[in-house]
Amino acid sequence: MSPAAVLAAVGAALPPHTVSNDDLAARMDTSDEWIRSRTGITSRHVAGIDQSTADLAVQAAAQALNGSYSPGVDALVVATTTPDRCCPATAPTVAARLGLTGVPAHDVAAGCTGFLYALATAAGLIAAGTAETVLVIGADRLASLPRPDDRTTVPLFGDGAGAVLLRRGDADEAGALAPIVLGSDGTCADLIAAACPGTLHMGGADVFRHAVERMSTASRRAATAAGWDLAAVDRLVPHQANSRITSFVARRLGVPDARRLSNVAHVGNTGGASIPLLLTQAHADGRLQSGHRTLLTAFGAGLPWGAVALTWPDLTHPTEGAGHDR
Ligand code: UT7
Repeated sequence: MSPAAVLAAVGAALPPHTVSNDDLAARMDTSDEWIRSRTGITSRHVAGIDQSTADLAVQAAAQALNGSYSPGVDALVVATTTPDRCCPATAPTVAARLGLTGVPAHDVAAGCTGFLYALATAAGLIAAGTAETVLVIGADRLASLPRPDDRTTVPLFGDGAGAVLLRRGDADEAGALAPIVLGSDGTCADLIAAACPGTLHMGGADVFRHAVERMSTASRRAATAAGWDLAAVDRLVPHQANSRITSFVARRLGVPDARRLSNVAHVGNTGGASIPLLLTQAHADGRLQSGHRTLLTAFGAGLPWGAVALTWPDLTHPTEGAGHDR
């Protein structure tokens, strides 16, 4: 049996500056009421020009490594839609800044589903024997993508980063990723798109329908792949596109709303950072606890989607062997 990828640590970073709905209403034709009722968002964190995607990624990764008992990192994957430069990729720079020069490091581009694609890449590196520990980072500065006066997109997005450390382990231990479900539909690629360079355009209503459908279907398949009944899911961790989308997904899956984790009110849609940022916050404040059967799902520009199940591990008291010998 090939080794499993097991979650061993989490970390996150948010730029300090926040922008409220009222701040937006002061500079464009919108209102706090409209934004909150359509999206559930009340404010978002926005990076200054001096804070790059790599800066956010390094900060999140450092926090994950700080809370980790693993002796090292063998590979690094960054999921981002907003790399600091078109070329080169962000990951080698992030690795070097973390003191990991020499490890394999590359970016994954899969929109807001990028983190789940990066998890799959990392799990593959572990299964192939290329790495025993992989740092997976989702980092995005989506707030800078829309045209600054576009009220249909500006309110939705925020900046941030999240990171998880995966280690080689066994499929039957807590934290092991069940088979990861992924898919894409490039025939809808124009529904959320930004030219290179250029500003973001989105067909909001169509994206909404696709997001609900794809995340629900992928979640069902991921639960089946884990051998779970959906009624057994303790925590649904959907990509934080907006709260109406995620509550529709929970309803379709029959997951009670109290089990649907959310942080979109204070961070907006942070793209590839969305899921690991939420995991980190929910782990820190106790919404996610050891033993919770946790289902992650995402959807994004492309249109790619994905889902994966894991039982949340005890990250505070690692068991014997939680690190690895090198
Ligand atoms: O990772 C995936 C990322 N994408 C998403 O999460 C977006 C998914 N889509 C959505 O969540 C929703 O489509 C939105 C929240 C973006 C928009 O909600 P909607 O209920 O689909 O609104 P709409 O686009 O149909 O627009 C309704 C009205 C329009 O006015 P008219 O034509 O009816 O007069 C818009 O111009 O609301 C107007 N509108 C706004 N009004 C105030 C659009 N944006 C705003 C705004 N403030 N910010």
